[in-house]
Amino acid sequence: RKEKTLALIKPDAVPKMGSIIEAIIVSGFTITKAKMVLLSRAEAMDFYSEHQSKSFFHDLITFMTSGPIVAMEVIGDDAVSSWRKLLGPTNCSVARSESPESIRARFGTDGTKNAAHGSDSITSAARELEFFFPSSGGRGPKNTA
Ligand code: CMP
Repeated sequence: RKEKTLALIKPDAVPKMGSIIEAIIVSGFTITKAKMVLLSRAEAMDFYSEHQSKSFFHDLITFMTSGPIVAMEVIGDDAVSSWRKLLGPTNCSVARSESPESIRARFGTDGTKNAAHGSDSITSAARELEFFFPSSGGRGPKNTA
């Protein structure tokens, strides 16, 4: 079943975005939208609001606002789950032992600086795509360019 999901290249991996985009394409996905943005703290807190009570929330917001990120709309068969499978486990050390070919194993650093993000369900994909690529009204996070 064709699905859309949101893929983010996080600040730690933006210097490696060429290789990450290549991995996305060779895995059979199509990138249908892309933009590079620098999130404000308020935008990052809104995007990650489901994690606001977590111990790592502050570090996550600081990291995600430390430099530009690349947001992409990615389309493919079962894109929500297949993109998360290509990402590998959240923690890059776990990814390197359990899924060495995964994007987090290849390009990530640790549990927070983990190279990339993928929506965890069809419902969050719809919300997260609307956040970065609003269909009407507001313009979404400002392009860094
Ligand atoms: P992501 O898939 O973008 O979703 C939430 C992010 O929070 C996650 O990737 C990591 O960057 C970060 N994160 C999740 N769990 C932890 C953790 N236990 N410690 C630190 N950061 C985490």
